[in-house]
Amino acid sequence: MTTVQQKAEEHITGSRMTAALLFLFLAGPVLLVAGSSNATVPVVVWHGMGDNCCNPLSMGAVKKMIEEEISGIYVLSLMIGKNVVEDTENGFFMDVNEQVSMVCSQLAQDPKLKGGYNALGFSQGAQFLRAVAQRCPSPPMRNLISVGGQQQGVFGLPRCPGESSRICDFIRKALNSGAYSDLVQKHLVQAQYWHDPLNDDLYKKYSLFLADINQERGVNETYKKNLQLLDKFVMVKFLQDTVVDPVDTEWFGFLKTGQTKETETLQDSVLYKEDRLGLAAMDKAKKLVFLKCEGDHLRFTREWFNTNLVPYLR
Ligand SMILES: *[C@@H]1O[C@H](CO)[C@@H](O)[C@H](O)[C@H]1NC(C)=O
Ligand SMILES: *[C@@H]1O[C@H](CO)[C@@H](O)[C@H](O)[C@H]1NC(C)=O
Repeated sequence: MTTVQQKAEEHITGSRMTAALLFLFLAGPVLLVAGSSNATVPVVVWHGMGDNCCNPLSMGAVKKMIEEEISGIYVLSLMIGKNVVEDTENGFFMDVNEQVSMVCSQLAQDPKLKGGYNALGFSQGAQFLRAVAQRCPSPPMRNLISVGGQQQGVFGLPRCPGESSRICDFIRKALNSGAYSDLVQKHLVQAQYWHDPLNDDLYKKYSLFLADINQERGVNETYKKNLQLLDKFVMVKFLQDTVVDPVDTEWFGFLKTGQTKETETLQDSVLYKEDRLGLAAMDKAKKLVFLKCEGDHLRFTREWFNTNLVPYLR
């Protein structure tokens, strides 16, 4: 048995590794762009699994990069918990619905966000921010950028960030032993966006988080209305992603129900065809943006970020 502290230490080691990799790709020439006005739109960032708000080599670097590109911008990198260790741990073990509601109240209380903000979610942070858009329309989210997010969940954990860490084996075992059991659902973040196409009924019935925000149990008109308030919903897919399975989920596609080989696009899905979440309407209104990035999970260059994503943050 590993103690919580050992687990925490492993998370940190894992996140350092991921962060170090990310940093290699983010490092680049510094471009200072003089702001022509002080009316920038703030940006809220939600980190991915095994990471935290403030690691100078990952989210800290992203925050700094945005601040350098858009002078005077307010960047809020979310910390879930009281410190970075808690923040990292909560990314594995804290009920996602609770995390989302904590973030909603934090955003509502932040005077700097009153006029609205853009949201930038990395990996699982991307689907969590979509839940914020659907559940908490005030303050208004303008653009939502999902960077390697798992919008239709995952079925498999091929490679965790910080692969050597025992936490990933632990998670894999728990998911395989019964991802939709009450105990696993309540205590394991990754179970809450576990989408098993071979057990579609169980998924629809027991998935506490993903099945809810993806309107699997019914259509919540509030979710549908709120999501459509976005100006743009940008989804970035990493073409050589070895962390997310299936990669199609990064563009809101997934495995077809009842088997594990063939995938379908968002446009082929029931979700879209019945327009249960407003995505078809948003597509028609040119609010959905599908971007590709060459490389593995979250590996992008500063140049790529500036060219492709910074325009949505201005
Ligand atoms: C900057 O902010 C100040 C004070 O809020 C305001 O008076 C001024 O018009 C703003 N400038 C621009 C260029 O928006
Ligand atoms: C729909 O979503 C809103 C916002 O989260 C929530 O207050 C409401 O209870 C939901 N309705 C149903 C029927 O689940």
